[in-house]
Amino acid sequence: MSYGWIDPAKYSINCLLLLDDILIRVIAKYDDAEFRNQLGVVLAAHPAILWYFGESCPEYRAHFAALAAEAGPAGGEEERRRAEHYVLDALDWAVVYLYPEVMERLGYIADWQPEKLLEMADLRGKTVLDIGSGTGRLAFAAAPYAKVVYACEPVGRLRAYLREKKRRLGVQNLYIVDGTIAELPFPDDMFDVVMSGHVFGDDYEAEYREMMRVTKPGGYIIDCPGEDDRQKDGPDPEVLRLGFAYSHYKSGRGGDVYRYWKQKAGFAN
Ligand SMILES: C[S@@+](CC[C@H](N)C(=O)[O-])C[C@H]1O[C@@H](n2cnc3c(N)ncnc32)[C@H](O)[C@@H]1O
Repeated sequence: MSYGWIDPAKYSINCLLLLDDILIRVIAKYDDAEFRNQLGVVLAAHPAILWYFGESCPEYRAHFAALAAEAGPAGGEEERRRAEHYVLDALDWAVVYLYPEVMERLGYIADWQPEKLLEMADLRGKTVLDIGSGTGRLAFAAAPYAKVVYACEPVGRLRAYLREKKRRLGVQNLYIVDGTIAELPFPDDMFDVVMSGHVFGDDYEAEYREMMRVTKPGGYIIDCPGEDDRQKDGPDPEVLRLGFAYSHYKSGRGGDVYRYWKQKAGFAN
């Protein structure tokens, strides 16, 4: 379950108090028995985290309370620390969202070259959306060419980081907004290019419909992942089923990287 992205001993379990509700909902759906058991130990030992999870996601309040109750009264210091490290390690994907400077150093972002996006689409003068922008890997690559780029990101600390990075780099044509791929805060037919990386795929049909909705007739949807080191058997069949074209390259780290694109029918005006 862990990507091995963090040393859990270096993080406080209190960072769970910084998680956005969208991330807590993902955690609530974990069905791994050991994870649930260890999370229960953490929640039993840290009533403030149990309270915060319940307040953030009332629909899962009873679920989290049950995990804490099943774990029973807090054990010794050793058991608590072991559970904290287990949970932080298993949730490394979410912990890095809270520490964007750590996320920026992950291979899939740090080793990626902006040309990999630019060779997919002519962004000059275009109105571009980056969904689940993260640290802005795609958004900042597009900004020097596009007319305007919107970086849509549901995690508050990542939005704060994007704003700080925009100031630091002196980028003028980038706007940072809250929103999810399932509910994009934009009108129909707004964008020439709608792009994302490592976001599309929880609910292919619904997310595809929402991305199509905000894409102009004749515009493009692009899925441009970073420099993975994972070997893959082939392109994502669900994405192909939705009619996307794809290309493949071997990353510098030996992984199979598939990029996807689809043009929305109709003519741009
Ligand atoms: C693996 S990171 C990828 C970040 C960036 N797109 C990249 O490729 O470098 C996934 C990003 O999607 C965001 N995210 C998570 N759930 C999302 C959702 N339902 N809709 C949009 N973005 C989401 C996360 O906060 C995170 O920034």
